[in-house]
Amino acid sequence: MSAATFPDGFLWGGALAANQAEGAAFEGGKGLTTVDMIPHGPQRLAVKIGQQKRVALQADEFYPSHQAIDFYHRYKEDIALMAEMGFTVFRTSIAWSRIYPNGDELTPNAEGIAFYRELFSECKKHNIEPLVTLCHFDVPMHLVTEYGSWRNRKMVEFFARYARTCFEAFDGLVKYWLTFNEINILLHSPFSGAGLVFEEGENQQQVKYQAAHHELVASALATKIAHEVNPHNQVGCMLAGGNFYPWSCKPEDVWAALEKDRENLFFIDVQARGAYPGYTRRLFKEQGVTLVTAPEDNEILQHTVDFVSFSYYASRCASADMNEHNSSAANIVKSLKNPHIQASEWGWGIDPLGLRITMNMMYDRYQKPLFLVENGLGAKDEINPQGEINDDYRISYLREHIKAMADAIEDGIPVIGYTSWGCIDLVSASTGEMSKRYGFVWVDRDDQGQGTLNRMRKKSFYWYQKVIASNGADL
Ligand code: BG6
Repeated sequence: MSAATFPDGFLWGGALAANQAEGAAFEGGKGLTTVDMIPHGPQRLAVKIGQQKRVALQADEFYPSHQAIDFYHRYKEDIALMAEMGFTVFRTSIAWSRIYPNGDELTPNAEGIAFYRELFSECKKHNIEPLVTLCHFDVPMHLVTEYGSWRNRKMVEFFARYARTCFEAFDGLVKYWLTFNEINILLHSPFSGAGLVFEEGENQQQVKYQAAHHELVASALATKIAHEVNPHNQVGCMLAGGNFYPWSCKPEDVWAALEKDRENLFFIDVQARGAYPGYTRRLFKEQGVTLVTAPEDNEILQHTVDFVSFSYYASRCASADMNEHNSSAANIVKSLKNPHIQASEWGWGIDPLGLRITMNMMYDRYQKPLFLVENGLGAKDEINPQGEINDDYRISYLREHIKAMADAIEDGIPVIGYTSWGCIDLVSASTGEMSKRYGFVWVDRDDQGQGTLNRMRKKSFYWYQKVIASNGADL
């Protein structure tokens, strides 16, 4: 294990997403989005994966995104806390429906643009570089009900208009852009990932890959536009990362792990290399998928990203027979439970070396700078009688992962920066809970939405401050 050394100018910070932090779901002219329809509680999963259709809010359900942590009104206080930790980068997303409330308008909502101009200016005031995701799990609902979301080609046009509006409106404030958060999650959680709801009896793989094609074309088009608007813009793709390990060295298990990796890497293969990889021919044939494409698509797809960003929480594990072993309670991407690693309270594996492995694989494959834009431990925090939160478990998780990232840098990989996930406690994407906390900053709010929303520094706050001040040397 090497001593942690990071290049000068390495960006340190944290990440959040509009839908999990802003709240103010009905303010500023904002339209409803997919995530606003996803309730907390037993129905959550069925809605998220597109099995249960929701087009209207239900009076008896609680929707955590509607208020979230009220970042919309408290962002100045929150950005000041990030600045106090020494952040040089802050990742957030723009809520598409604040800019285009329905998604298909020709003119943007001025109030939405004004909000984000103020937010990004606030970051700049503190010498923090914004890193901005255009779509983080929140498609305007009108596009779902009127067009079927990403199953419809029209989405490419709507997204391109939205992206151009953002690049022009925030030019000079934002240089680092991501198109779609965890684009591969479309396959695993189709409604939250891409606004897809399925009809009885249809080939879901066909719908998903057609939607994926539209997102990939839209992403490449947005990349092209970003570079036209300002050649200094840097655009990245974003993968829900974590390599699959084979359950054993049985060739069939090794092959299964390779295929599972390809399922996810397919998206990045297109975004980083500019064309469909050869293996999709057989994949699509086996799954009965026939893509409808436009003559210009191949040319558009050649507008590849400048860097490859990814989230890393855990590695994954696969075997030729996925039913033969225990599966992990883990997360959205189905995986076997790896007996060689510990897991979090929510069953997510803890595997820092897996981060180094994943980063090496990605750089070997794409030869583009990497940006680790999500990593962290979701855990329950307790306030002790002295009024402190001593989250040593979080510090230890982050320390080991930062060390693994340093090792990957030693391996020769260019890495732009690190934004840990949920730098301030926010709503969990998978469960809708507040009690699954990731932050350096505690937010007083519970799973039912009760609490003062007051902020408080945890022990990890001071630890991360020290890490940043020493450019990763003092872990
Ligand atoms: C990623 C998402 O999947 O993981 C975030 O991009 C999400 O939106 C994060 O919050 C952690 O997952 P969870 O379910 O613990 O919130």
